[in-house]
Amino acid sequence: MCGIFAYLGPNEKAAEIVLKGLKKLEYRGYDSWGIAAQMEGGDFVIEKHVGKISEVINLEEKMTHSSHLAMGHSRWATHGGVTQYNAHPHTSEDQDVVVVHNGIFENYLELKEALIAKGHQFRSETDSEVFAHLIEEELEEGFETAFTRACKKVTGRFAILALHKGENKLIAARRGSPLIVGKADDGALFVASDVPAFLEYTKKIQYLDDNQMVTLTEGRAHFYDLETGSPIEKRLISIDWKEEEAEKGAYAHFMLKEIMEQKETLARAINADPELIQKATAMINKAYGTTLVGCGTAGKVAMVGEYLFANVAKKHVNVKFGSEFKSARHFLTDRSLIIAISQSGETADTLEALEIAKSKGAKIISIVNVETSTMARMSDLVIPLKAGPEKAVASTKATTSQLAILTLLAYAVAGRANEGKQLLIESEGKLNDLLNPRYEAHIEAVADQIKDAQDIMIIGRDMNFPIALESAIKLQEVSYIHAEGFAGGELKHGPIALISEGTPCIVIAPNDEYKAEILSNAMELKARGALLIGISPDNAEIFDIWIKVPSVGNASPILDLIPIQILAYKLAVARQTNPDMPRNLAKSVTVK
Ligand code: M6R
Repeated sequence: MCGIFAYLGPNEKAAEIVLKGLKKLEYRGYDSWGIAAQMEGGDFVIEKHVGKISEVINLEEKMTHSSHLAMGHSRWATHGGVTQYNAHPHTSEDQDVVVVHNGIFENYLELKEALIAKGHQFRSETDSEVFAHLIEEELEEGFETAFTRACKKVTGRFAILALHKGENKLIAARRGSPLIVGKADDGALFVASDVPAFLEYTKKIQYLDDNQMVTLTEGRAHFYDLETGSPIEKRLISIDWKEEEAEKGAYAHFMLKEIMEQKETLARAINADPELIQKATAMINKAYGTTLVGCGTAGKVAMVGEYLFANVAKKHVNVKFGSEFKSARHFLTDRSLIIAISQSGETADTLEALEIAKSKGAKIISIVNVETSTMARMSDLVIPLKAGPEKAVASTKATTSQLAILTLLAYAVAGRANEGKQLLIESEGKLNDLLNPRYEAHIEAVADQIKDAQDIMIIGRDMNFPIALESAIKLQEVSYIHAEGFAGGELKHGPIALISEGTPCIVIAPNDEYKAEILSNAMELKARGALLIGISPDNAEIFDIWIKVPSVGNASPILDLIPIQILAYKLAVARQTNPDMPRNLAKSVTVK
């Protein structure tokens, strides 16, 4: 949520470098953007604009100032509307201090009132601007001291970067929101919310942990504890991300590229290190209670996990959404186990759940895509998805990889690890039936037929009930059509009142023990005028439209989801929305 990127180095095109890198972080927020560059002599040039940075033409020509130090921000609005004033960077009263911020300063109103009482005037409605004024208040003690004092005054989660006029130095700190330092061989230093911003310059990175700050001066990065001021030694980590993985290549959108990549990404998940699966299995077997935690799509994956463990391993596990985790503190102990599911590993609600669990002494396993994320670093065991960067806001390839890992775990806990792996290998072998141009064209035709619908309903039973919920998220976020998922048997208890003539209803009907029941639920919808779209290995007379999927037993949640991902994408294209950057959303939700 909000992308931050800064450069300090020998290249005099700092502003241009920041601009280019910021475009690669746009998936984190795209309401507005801004860049501050420090000129020779110490003055700042600041550009701020409403809208997406990628939509501005010939932008590079605008950022030709000669500068060695610049920082930028791509915003997902929290406090204050989407206006140029509220776009970052923000400045102090005298404009000598410039800041960019990701997160929320929870006590900003109180701080702002106190600053106003001292005569400060504010230009924006944001919480972020207070930080520049707080530094300004303390500058007599020096930039570093003023910065750390300001950090101590604010509450909430944040990543914050600041510059001071005339000082060739950048100071950054984090508490809850990600920040990574990159170090290039030519001495250039970078600070970013995520690695793709500087991947073309370096793969050598250092992570900031919570309550740590870093000062960047020419060629040197010094890390400190925010509370005590003591220096911290940081390991330089080499990452193996490939630049092209973070680009969309010949695809029109990242979402389509990532859907199509599932052939490889699923294979990678299935081949997860058996030792890790074994270790996780031992931890699950030893725990007095396991709780799966995730948000949004990852939360729905967690729900599938509950069914998988029940059906395959006859084992009860709990499920909690990250944002609804707090009540779990009443039953967590040092014998509890939490399995966190996340693409980014930076989702604030899930992180908060892990903090609560840690405070109770519980063990943590994380199933994450970003291996070096905060979540991974908080965990006792990490099972990486190895799906490569996922940049479209709508999660697709990370989702199916998470489902595959949970399937492996459920089978391993049942003592049938090889059977689980074999099932997944066979299922992955059938992916070509779904990821091919003919299949895509069929779904495109379905999208054309239903693109003007007001509502779309999705039903499923058992493991495919959470898949119906996840399908609704996919359709909502990129097509903006009102979509809702239901357990097949629940409709007649109320929601069936929403069905009218022609309402598209997607029926997920794998060849499982619930097939007859889900088909009779579909009948109930058809009798009220629904247009039935069956996702099933076999056609059924009641389907108006049939989307064929292979029959793959307990792997059906994975394969059933893929045509719906394609449908969501095709609906977005047909309705001329941007599937990679849907309105009001951001890829990584780092605020609570
Ligand atoms: O990075 P995470 O997996 O923790 O993200 C959780 C949700 O924010 C995410 O799944 C969200 O629901 C997606 N945009 C759905 O496609």
